[in-house]
Amino acid sequence: TGKELILAVETSCDETSVAVVRDGTEILANVVSSQIDTHKRYGGVVPEIASRKHVESVTLMLEEAVRAAGIRLSDLSAIAVTQGPGLVGALLVGVVAAKTLACALQIPLIGVHHIAGHIYANRLVHRLDYPLVALVVSGGHTELVHVPAPGVFRIIGQTRDDAAGEAYDKVARAMGLPYPGGPHVDRLALEADEAVPMPRAWLEPESYDFSFSGLKSAVLAAINQAKMRGDVLHPASLSKGFQDSVVDVLVEKAIRASKAYGAKQLLLAGGVAANKGLREALAARCEQEKLALLVPPLSLCTDNAAMIAAAAFLKWEAGELSELDLKAEPVLSL
Ligand code: KG4
Ligand code: ZN
Repeated sequence: TGKELILAVETSCDETSVAVVRDGTEILANVVSSQIDTHKRYGGVVPEIASRKHVESVTLMLEEAVRAAGIRLSDLSAIAVTQGPGLVGALLVGVVAAKTLACALQIPLIGVHHIAGHIYANRLVHRLDYPLVALVVSGGHTELVHVPAPGVFRIIGQTRDDAAGEAYDKVARAMGLPYPGGPHVDRLALEADEAVPMPRAWLEPESYDFSFSGLKSAVLAAINQAKMRGDVLHPASLSKGFQDSVVDVLVEKAIRASKAYGAKQLLLAGGVAANKGLREALAARCEQEKLALLVPPLSLCTDNAAMIAAAAFLKWEAGELSELDLKAEPVLSL
């Protein structure tokens, strides 16, 4: 071995992405076609439309990735694909494309868990040191994962209702902000001088789980009460109240988990890792605690296929290959 080229396909939600990565670390190409503009007018991702858009772009993305990487298909060692979790119709498009390629090229297929991909996005830019703890926060996920060794994942906490990004998007929508609302709420929160007080869901003292739906309801109630009083809440103060609550809980639990599991590094991953408030608060706490914090660049935080190739490389090394009857799994445990 030595120079293994893996081509990966990611279509779990609203990004069609294809990447070529060498030895799990060196990105030769990572092309992403986002459907956000299409879904924007509906205020969220419409699954049926997502599937159709993936069908339209997956072949184009494949051609573009191979061209950008400057490789021939015959140079590839394996084809990786996001197997789940995600929207079933969307996942299917990637799975069929990947199987077809693996079959035509007579090379192995490697099914990858989407969250493993988000975590291993960090390996494209950082050297990982185990044991580590990863905080995965996106539109579909909020998980604290203990990673004792390469490719070994133990979920130690997860959301009991809304994902963090989902709560951001719903609160933003109630405030009349465009989809996806996370970045807008983040920006407004940073402009605010004061915060509308909001509750924090700590749950049981020992729990690493999260809950954001109560907070979301509190924000919606505050908006409605202000409306009834004939007054409007300042969007910046409201955003800050919401964001402070989300960030406090995420940071506190991530730090506590890192200490409890003797983590050498805390990894941040997923679309919400782009949040400036979260990054700053985590960086400050990690510095206090003398804990190494790894955050991928923004382009690798949101859904992309390079992270899938990075996670697939570990499976390749371990000989964990998939069969050609691999199924798209909308619900899949890590
Ligand atoms: O990982 P991702 O691209 O897709 C999923 O797998 O869900 O994450 C998208 C999510 C959206 O909910 C979006 O609002 C959120 O990440 N997001 C943010 C920020 N940037 C993106 N949330 C808060 N602050 C941000 N700056
Ligand atoms: Zn994702």
